[in-house]
Amino acid sequence: MPVTCVYGMQWGDEGKGRIVDLLAAKSDFVVRYQGGANAGHTVIVGEEKYVLHLLPSGAIQPSTTNVIGNGVVVDPWILMDEVDHLAGRGIDLTGRLLVSDRAHVVLPHHKTMDQALEALRGDEALGTTSRGIGPAYGDKFRRAGMRVADLLKPERYQELLEANTGAWNAILDKAGLEPIDIAAVIEETAAIGERIRPYAADATGVLIEAWKAGREILCEGAQGFGLDVDHGSYPFVTSSTTGPAGVPAGTGLPPQALGRVVGIVKAYTTRVGAGPFPTRDTGPAGQHLGEVGHEFGATTGRPRDCGWFDAVLGRRAAMTQGATAVALMKLDVLSGLDEIKLCIAYELDGKRVEAPPAWAGDWERCTPVYETHPGWSEDISGARRFEDLPAAAQVYVRRIQEVLEVPVEVISVGAERERFIPLEQGIPVSV
Ligand code: IMP
Repeated sequence: MPVTCVYGMQWGDEGKGRIVDLLAAKSDFVVRYQGGANAGHTVIVGEEKYVLHLLPSGAIQPSTTNVIGNGVVVDPWILMDEVDHLAGRGIDLTGRLLVSDRAHVVLPHHKTMDQALEALRGDEALGTTSRGIGPAYGDKFRRAGMRVADLLKPERYQELLEANTGAWNAILDKAGLEPIDIAAVIEETAAIGERIRPYAADATGVLIEAWKAGREILCEGAQGFGLDVDHGSYPFVTSSTTGPAGVPAGTGLPPQALGRVVGIVKAYTTRVGAGPFPTRDTGPAGQHLGEVGHEFGATTGRPRDCGWFDAVLGRRAAMTQGATAVALMKLDVLSGLDEIKLCIAYELDGKRVEAPPAWAGDWERCTPVYETHPGWSEDISGARRFEDLPAAAQVYVRRIQEVLEVPVEVISVGAERERFIPLEQGIPVSV
């Protein structure tokens, strides 16, 4: 059974949680493979709203086993808060949550360092979520990280922590800040280690067995392609491989296990944090998108910048990550705009540019080459078939499919679970 991956094709906040929730109903396993509590995935079920940062969005579905893969950086306090929070709302994860014993752990000093490093960057700050993501991945790759397996060995914990925090303490000392209080960290982590123990497992082994047995596995990406550490707007990125390319490394499933890759895009673009955003619109249209789309960060509450659909970013996101289908989110938010712009290329120093530039400064200077499409005024939240959409909306969706060169298989027209147009057979040819 091929593994499915859902990933964001823009700068995060595309509505992945919603699609994962939809697909999780048919999945046995839902797996996070990268990122950490910097993510904020929202799922609305009836009157209930769930915002998850670390748990896979599949946790809301009663029949799924939820896996936090080795590629995730786990803040154990946030994780256990989410487990307790869901339990308080009647969703019990006992026996259906696995945390890889190879996953790295975000400790309190990673968050302190995240904020300190941002402060040192001054005007060049990245606008991180302050969740300790960069420092935790930094420790992982400089081979000085703490893993879930380490939390489970209190007798080795102190020694490891002392060895691994030496470099941080040197930086803190230079910045005139207090060093990491190892005794305090040990005290804080002893209890949380015991809480995680029942969930810790060789998640890779479990996933491989499940895949071989033909079970349905869904991998849930966090953030988006524009924030990918290799392909995004570096250095204004997160510290992980956000697309399906991150699945084999972040789970241990073999690359050939991936069969279906669903890219998620909003019908417009948003960005939170610093970095290039050529299609940003600071006028009335951008304001409309922010207000009607409720564009506030689920993790930080920060207002998101809003703008038009960017096919330069979208094409790269589709091509490099092998998207086999696209879910087009929040089409309803465009209702009421007189005209809708779609960026098909950039212009930089008088030349047409078809791919994102390597240097963020150049990307920032790009001006969009727009196509302008007529808008529509109808409320489309009741549409359940492609034919129910106004003609102008149909034309716009077809054009997005054409520029991405990937079939649109779902269109969301509202936040509630049932507000979407399924298009498993593709957009009908006759309408
Ligand atoms: P970090 O991942 O906290 O280090 O933040 C790096 C950049 O990624 C910042 O611009 C954040 O705003 C952005 N970012 C991280 N997670 C998300 C997310 O889930 N949605 C949108 N932006 C995010």
